[in-house]
Amino acid sequence: MTRIVRVDPRAPSPEQLQDAVRILRRGGLVAFPTETVYGLGAHALDEEAVRGIFAAKGRPAFNPLIVHVTDADAARALSSRWPATAERLAGSFWPGPLTLVLPKRSDVPDVVTAGLPSVALRVPAHPVAAALLAAAAIPLAAPSANRYTELSPTRAEHVARGLGGRVDLILDGGPTEVGIESTVVDLTGDAPLLLRPGSVTREELEEVVGPVAVAADVQGTAPRPGPGMVERHYSPRARLLLFDAHALPRARERVERELAAGRTVGAIVWSPVALEGVEADRLPASPGEYARRLYATLHDLDERGCDLVLVERVPLDPGWDGVRDRLRRAAHPE
Ligand code: TXA
Ligand code: MG
Repeated sequence: MTRIVRVDPRAPSPEQLQDAVRILRRGGLVAFPTETVYGLGAHALDEEAVRGIFAAKGRPAFNPLIVHVTDADAARALSSRWPATAERLAGSFWPGPLTLVLPKRSDVPDVVTAGLPSVALRVPAHPVAAALLAAAAIPLAAPSANRYTELSPTRAEHVARGLGGRVDLILDGGPTEVGIESTVVDLTGDAPLLLRPGSVTREELEEVVGPVAVAADVQGTAPRPGPGMVERHYSPRARLLLFDAHALPRARERVERELAAGRTVGAIVWSPVALEGVEADRLPASPGEYARRLYATLHDLDERGCDLVLVERVPLDPGWDGVRDRLRRAAHPE
């Protein structure tokens, strides 16, 4: 049985964290809240412990993990090169929802980085994650606390539902703020390369370090991206279809057909559009607030037994890049 310990999300007490710390230090698995999503943590320098993460998630060994640390100094200590771009980005966005990929030091086990010569590093801002890292005094490898290819958890209940019985302890710090996974930037090459969009946008990064290339644009020319960039990812159990508010008749036809076939249909919209016969979940028309609620909404639709969820396409505006990326990966091509 997995134990769930409630913690004060703003100021967790040492007593609330002590079991988690003990478990992590002796090589166990603890799920904890970060500001993005819940992470499944293990001692990053303990190979056996890290193998436990891959086993619990059912994650293939070629997909490397993010190592969470208390501050930029601790990050620098795990990298063999710390360029000026790292210093600037860390200074501007840490603690926060940004992950930096840097050449790794040899004491970072290969199992963490999937054999890559680089390591992904992040200093989380969530008070529970920060306090846990400080109290455990070890770096924590932590992917999102979900089974491989499934939806990331933004609440402790999501973790319990997906990984219950496979983790030693879950720290319940309530719902997460950001709601989608951190922005990932590769700093091992000549210019910063955006591997995964998130709430820290490309524009914000460029204000600090100048031009940032986007992995999706350079694929085919660069050998770098790859590891975690599996196409189908972040998926709910329900089939997810993106629809365009400007092509409503098609979406409505689809709904009619599915309902006639006896299927349960849900919808997520952000504009005032309506789809007859479906009670849509309306998310805020701002990317930050939409992101905060997206995964919880998808988890709920799964719980309600939806077979199909129609999701209104989000604006092409760069502020929506992170959300658009997650929706595209979660959706089934049609
Ligand atoms: O917000 C987050 O980043 C959450 C919380 C828990 O911190 N973590 C998370 O981890 O989303 P995960 O494992 O689900 O995603 C890690 C991403 C993957 O796309 C992986 O391929 C990439 O980071 N990554 C890790 N190490 C890398 C490396 N050395 N080079 C390139 N990409 C790497
Ligand atoms: Mg993940």
